[in-house]
Amino acid sequence: MKKDLISIVDIKDELKEIIELGIELKMKQRMGEIFEPLKNKSMAMIFEKPSTRTRVSFEVAMTQLGGHALYLSPRDMQLGRGETIADTAKVLSRYVDIIIYRAYKHEMMLELAKNATVPVINALDDVEHPCQIVADLMTIREKKGEFQGLKLAYVGDGNNVANSLMLGSAIVGMDFYIACPKGYEPPDDIVGMARRIANETGSKVVITHDPVEAVKDADVVYTDVWVSMGDEAEKEARMKAFQSYQVNEELVKHAKPDYIFMHCLPAHRGYEVTDEVIDSRNSVVFDEAENRLHAQKAIILRLLKP
Ligand code: CP
Ligand code: NVA
Repeated sequence: MKKDLISIVDIKDELKEIIELGIELKMKQRMGEIFEPLKNKSMAMIFEKPSTRTRVSFEVAMTQLGGHALYLSPRDMQLGRGETIADTAKVLSRYVDIIIYRAYKHEMMLELAKNATVPVINALDDVEHPCQIVADLMTIREKKGEFQGLKLAYVGDGNNVANSLMLGSAIVGMDFYIACPKGYEPPDDIVGMARRIANETGSKVVITHDPVEAVKDADVVYTDVWVSMGDEAEKEARMKAFQSYQVNEELVKHAKPDYIFMHCLPAHRGYEVTDEVIDSRNSVVFDEAENRLHAQKAIILRLLKP
């Protein structure tokens, strides 16, 4: 049976193992060790939305593992001229060993996964961004050690990144607080799922509208853009709603002195985060971005494991 990564919950039981493998692969890379277990393997990467980190880290990951990645934009595919995602999935499965997909709609992600006979990885959709969160958890593991007893404060939009981060935190047993404006909370079904998982791992999922309550004594402070790809029409309303949710020097004073600042990037400096915070000594955003490469190698290897 092929295994997909659509939600971070799909790798719930092996998440910690994947994080440790990511750390091991990073070491190999640092030592200059050649490790090419995916010789002659190919990956199709369909990107409906722009990407810097996800695209480049997946392509480089595949190259370094000895395989090959093909970047496919729907604009240049028959998908853009009306071929269905189901037919596209069936055809690509005859050529490649794994498919990466960045989609506007979660339903399209599910439709691709249902029809592909090879593993499908969600490279971001409107509901989740699981690969980002594997890299984030790897970064927290490297910087802070054990997850148990840590508090992560996410300040901002209850979006795809927040959803996966909430679920991922619950899986590893880290307390998750989100401070968001009214009307921008993560969806109830995902909060419910995260709380059920958190019950099992002895951690907490707290939703508040008060950024100070969330950030108080936090070990990790995380934010993401106020306007995600696909939300552009709501830009004006969002800019107003999120004004008091900026991560700035005043807010991070409430975190632990050795807190780390994280952001999936791209950052909109001066909006969700100030230069002072993102460029501070507490910021680990570029280590976090680097870890996309190592974490995704671990994910690919795990999904392609015979
Ligand atoms: N964080 C992230 O997924 O970045 P890209 O949109 O550049 O891939
Ligand atoms: N929430 C953002 C993440 C970008 C990596 C978006 O969906 O645009």
